[in-house]
Amino acid sequence: MKKIVILSSCIALLCSCNNSPKNIDRELSKQEIISLNAIKTLSKPEGDLILTNTCYACHNPKSNSHDNMLAPPLAGIKNKYLKTYPTKDLFVAQVSDYIFNPTQENALMKGPIKRFGLMPKIGLSKKEAQEIALFIYNNKLQVPSWFPKHFEDKHNKKWEDNSSK
Ligand code: HEC
Repeated sequence: MKKIVILSSCIALLCSCNNSPKNIDRELSKQEIISLNAIKTLSKPEGDLILTNTCYACHNPKSNSHDNMLAPPLAGIKNKYLKTYPTKDLFVAQVSDYIFNPTQENALMKGPIKRFGLMPKIGLSKKEAQEIALFIYNNKLQVPSWFPKHFEDKHNKKWEDNSSK
């Protein structure tokens, strides 16, 4: 009996580690690509204002400690999304889907949900979500001062700011 319990928990553990990111090979339809190409490009001041007003209450890049955060820094999230969804269209599609409708199953990272709880739905239109996602892709994001060290401790490699793509 004990063996079965141990065996099944090992299997459960293996499965949970093997959870490959969702939609990694998502094929965007022609229609989706046309809609992504029609997204308005926000200027730097416009985009920064939206991030400050709608995202940074939780994803605060000015916080001086990890302990004060209500959500992970967007620069770190961007880095992870870029590694997983490297093309612009896929990046924008995935980020905008999440901020339009954050759900446990849409999330790329499970760790932050455990630590902070699920991001609440913030009531953006699909169009607004796409504009913000494109702005995030196109612009360098502020990195909190404590973050590079945190990243290096956690991943055992140097933080390289890829957020200036
Ligand atoms: C009320 C707090 C709050 C606000 C406002 C907020 N977020 Fe989040 N966000 C969170 C939390 C908490 C998480 C971590 C848990 C999760 O992934 O849902 C998160 C996670 C994310 C993720 C990563 C999800 C994944 O795939 O793992 C993205 C992308 C994101 N937020 C983008 C944004 C953007 C862009 C804005 C502004 C338009 C925003 N968030 C506003 C709380 C917030």
